[in-house]
Amino acid sequence: MKKNDSVTSSFVKEKVLREEIQRRKTFGIISHPDAGKTTLTEKFLLFGGAIQEAGAVKSNKIKKTAASDFMELERQRGISISTSVLSFEYKGNKINILDTPGHKDFAEDTFRTLTAVDSVIVVIDVAKGVEEQTERLVEVCRMRKIPILVFINKLDREGKYVFDLLDEIEQKLGLRITSLSWPIGMGNDFQGVYNLWEQSLLLFSGQKKQKIEKGLELKNLHEKILDKSIGSKSAELLRQELEIVREVYPEFHRGAYMKGDLQPVFFGSALNNFGIRELLDVFMEIAPGPSSKESEQRLIAPDEKSFSGFVFKIHANMDPRHRDRIAFVKIASGVFRRNTPYLHVRLGRKFKYASPSAFFADKKQIIQESFSGDIVGLHDTGNFKIGDTLTEGEALRFKGIPSFSPEHFRYINNADPMKTKQLEKGIHQLMEEGVAQLFSMDYNQRKIIGTVGALQYEVIQYRLENEYGARCTYETLPVYKACWVEVDDEKHPDFQEFKRVKQRFIAHDKENQMVFLADSVFSIQMMKEKYPLIKLRFTSEKITA
Ligand code: G4P
Repeated sequence: MKKNDSVTSSFVKEKVLREEIQRRKTFGIISHPDAGKTTLTEKFLLFGGAIQEAGAVKSNKIKKTAASDFMELERQRGISISTSVLSFEYKGNKINILDTPGHKDFAEDTFRTLTAVDSVIVVIDVAKGVEEQTERLVEVCRMRKIPILVFINKLDREGKYVFDLLDEIEQKLGLRITSLSWPIGMGNDFQGVYNLWEQSLLLFSGQKKQKIEKGLELKNLHEKILDKSIGSKSAELLRQELEIVREVYPEFHRGAYMKGDLQPVFFGSALNNFGIRELLDVFMEIAPGPSSKESEQRLIAPDEKSFSGFVFKIHANMDPRHRDRIAFVKIASGVFRRNTPYLHVRLGRKFKYASPSAFFADKKQIIQESFSGDIVGLHDTGNFKIGDTLTEGEALRFKGIPSFSPEHFRYINNADPMKTKQLEKGIHQLMEEGVAQLFSMDYNQRKIIGTVGALQYEVIQYRLENEYGARCTYETLPVYKACWVEVDDEKHPDFQEFKRVKQRFIAHDKENQMVFLADSVFSIQMMKEKYPLIKLRFTSEKITA
């Protein structure tokens, strides 16, 4: 090959790489259980031709009926591997939807998945408004400046007065919103939505209100066709409401949305397939592709030629005889290739992967290559833990796979002294998988397991017994939150005093970071007032709020 040819070919390769990366939209859909996340995901998959009929994304449904039974939850692990990532093509985009489990198994996993998304869609039930899990997840997104789009669902049912609901979203979720669509009526009177982005009217029709009349372009709301289409009363109301919308909410600005400073809102009904295609189309236009990712060493751009990626989730095999696992890697830059040696930075060794997989709606597939923004599943026999970095050779370490304060805390005791080793190994591996967090109390060295959902304790007990032959019991601890302790001057007398006075509440996490186990909001407040030099964080990582 002549020199010029090779320059051209590398130019073409770079162009292809950039184009491939830009067309990737990797996002999570988050909501409180029952707001409609599964239904919305399913409709997206239908539009992408990834599934043929509704009902294919079953995992949530089964979870719901069997929520009280953790054995079922175990069974679900098999199914949830296939719903962990759902990839499909839509209008030239490669979409990767990452599952953020939101039911009883709501766990650290859910939070950590947010480190691998480039944006999120938040689903809110028009009648229920902002619910607890949504608040917690959105808080993490806000801290990380993840672009958020809000979808208000179930407009076919009676719900809250729209302006009140938008106020609630702003206040409870701390968002700065702007409406890109507006509902015409609600419940039985729901007629459709006005799409402010495209300035068009979408009307429901048909007996079951499932047919959508073609979008009617309506740049001037005073056109008589509006009155004809929805009736003069509704037309007048819509004009008035949109007038208020224009006055009260800021204009949509994509840059502000991408920076996490402005959140567009859409309305519709996932079940009736209303407003969903429009939502997906606008989302494809405005949603960000893969963004740069900070490592401890430098900022990594997605279109760098060299491959790098990080593990954000590990899924254990359900079969206790095979302790292999799947590690989910988000590609942060370049192209991941099958059978190519990559550096496992923490272990300082190179590994090749013979069967890396990608996840398509209902199947797993071995891939030859995958681009920045994508997720690959790597078969693992115990080499990975959450946060591990893979590269082509550079010793990078990605930031931002933090631990968040658990909600429940229990001492773990060995119930079978003959199996101490097995218990230790089991706890160690389950913690690496990210099932829960382990703390060690400073004053008595006892081990504490912290979880986000209480059901996790049963899962751990069951897995220890079935996979490691170890048995454990628990003792509940009256802890409200784990606060990571940060102090500039460790020798300061105030810090020494804090350690002495509070020694029964001080523990260390698995990275040996100091943690204050607060028993109430009040005690956190007291600590802050008494020892202003000590910073208390609810996550293991410093995040600029
Ligand atoms: P989730 O994943 O967020 O938990 O919610 P999911 O999609 O499972 O939806 C929860 C319930 O809300 C389901 O009803 C679903 O059919 C319903 N739903 C979703 N979108 C809409 C909507 O736009 N309008 C109305 N009226 N209902 C909606 P279910 O009775 O629990 O299940 P199913 O028997 O309908 O499957």
